[in-house]
Amino acid sequence: MALSSHYFVFLLFVLTFVSAALARSEPGKLSHDILAQQEADKVIRLPGQPPVKFRQYAGYIPVDGIHGKALFYWFFEATSHPQKKPLLLWLNGGPGCSSLGYGEAEELGPFLIQKGTPELRFNKYTWNKAANLLFLESPVGVGFSYSNRSSDINELGDTVTAKDSYMFLVNWFQRFPQYKSHDFYIAGESYAGHYVPQLAEVIYDANKKSAMENYINLKGFMIGNALLDDDTDQTGMIDYAWDHAVISDRVYQDVKTYCNFSNSDQSNECNNALNEYFAVYDIIDMYSLYAPTCVNTKTTNKQRRRIEGIAPKSFSKFDPWHKKPAGYDPCVSLYSEVYFNRRDVQEALHANITNIPYPWTHCSDVITFWSDAPASILPIIKKLIAGGLRIWVYSGDTDGRIPVTSTRYTLRKLGLNTTEEWAPWYNNNQVGGWTIIYDGLTFVTLRGAGHQVPTFVPKRSLQLIKHFLTNKKLPSAPY
Ligand SMILES: *[C@@H]1O[C@H](CO)[C@@H](O)[C@H](O)[C@H]1NC(C)=O
Ligand SMILES: *[C@@H]1O[C@H](CO)[C@@H](O)[C@H](O)[C@H]1NC(C)=O
Ligand SMILES: *[C@@H]1O[C@H](CO)[C@@H](O)[C@H](O)[C@H]1NC(C)=O
Ligand SMILES: *[C@@H]1O[C@H](CO)[C@@H](O)[C@H](O)[C@H]1NC(C)=O
Repeated sequence: MALSSHYFVFLLFVLTFVSAALARSEPGKLSHDILAQQEADKVIRLPGQPPVKFRQYAGYIPVDGIHGKALFYWFFEATSHPQKKPLLLWLNGGPGCSSLGYGEAEELGPFLIQKGTPELRFNKYTWNKAANLLFLESPVGVGFSYSNRSSDINELGDTVTAKDSYMFLVNWFQRFPQYKSHDFYIAGESYAGHYVPQLAEVIYDANKKSAMENYINLKGFMIGNALLDDDTDQTGMIDYAWDHAVISDRVYQDVKTYCNFSNSDQSNECNNALNEYFAVYDIIDMYSLYAPTCVNTKTTNKQRRRIEGIAPKSFSKFDPWHKKPAGYDPCVSLYSEVYFNRRDVQEALHANITNIPYPWTHCSDVITFWSDAPASILPIIKKLIAGGLRIWVYSGDTDGRIPVTSTRYTLRKLGLNTTEEWAPWYNNNQVGGWTIIYDGLTFVTLRGAGHQVPTFVPKRSLQLIKHFLTNKKLPSAPY
């Protein structure tokens, strides 16, 4: 009797100890369920892929069970020491453009699309050398992300996008709990100048009230050639175009005389002048002033579907505003549209498992309406600076779409004090661009880069993201 009761106490002790150890959920001690889910998302045998040592995962994360909304992700572990590296989410803009098509396959991912076979080549300057790298197609209607309720596609806007992306993250961390303790950062370009700060704000607010279980370890964000403020962005586009000898003195004067970019509706005189301004970007690439354009006559898909209601309110009323970015090989978008629509590629990525009724495109053809987009993101930036997030803004200086001029006007409007004056920064012996450090925000220019900065200056871009993630100043002298 005495013996068996001792034995019972001992058993109880062992059980308590074991369950406490399990509850601590150390990395590498994931439950069978979670491991099985991760295993199901593991990408193996991706057609045309160069061999790599790091693991990759892709698949769907449900964000709204009632509507049947699911967002598609592609995740790459860091090339080395993934357990010690931060987690970085990359977002492209549009709105409606794919982070797979642009971010992963044409800018900063490990596998860049190329003409012919093999279809993918390894990117020496891939950002998963600096971080565990997560690409998200957001919102529903973009790329492989879908909603089972087709009316959802007509009810999109900045607010829904941020809310769904937040739910994506909460649920993604449930599938990959080993990354919950990592420092988390968000980066993106273009219209992600709206998405990234808006998502950061949702996380920031939710962290204050949510159960610790859903806490997201957000440390900061970085945005490039980012749409931030209708007034300064549009003014900067016109000034940049004149200053880069793209428009005539007369067109410039007409815009200055007849347009007021604080208003969303413009006079006929203003619209006529803007038509002349946009006409120039029919013949040269607005996203990269000095790059060749794709002259492949078989393609008529330079133009994307127009979306009503997006920011900036004046310029988005013009068709050429909705033209898609090209790339360093200006025809590269054509190869990715073929590649991502291949059945074997979709199977390898666990994509399109519900037979989405339209093809994968770089920028959505099904989103045609946008319900909300604030005229300025500066109030959010101010709030998050005060909240202590690390914020870097960068700009490729040959982009005519959201030019460095626009961003400088925007930062002037933000009105921060300067901590370190405007100075060159270096990549080896060459000036990579200029940088200025404000109280709460760092601004970096990248010399000779178009809108999709990593496409044009891959080595300097990897240097930029490494310095951002480690919060280190860029080199101020040749080395
Ligand atoms: C959408 O519908 C398909 C087919 O019924 C189903 O398999 C899928 O799980 C649904 N998606 C979501 C996110 O509920
Ligand atoms: C531009 O429009 C804004 C808002 O309507 C107005 O406050 C401002 O005075 C206008 N600027 C000029 C120069 O007319
Ligand atoms: C999904 O697959 C169907 C064929 O089953 C195809 O018609 C459609 O274009 C695909 N859509 C996407 C977004 O890949
Ligand atoms: C800038 O610095 C001055 C002097 O220290 C201070 O009074 C002011 O509040 C600062 N402005 C901002 C926006 O931090």
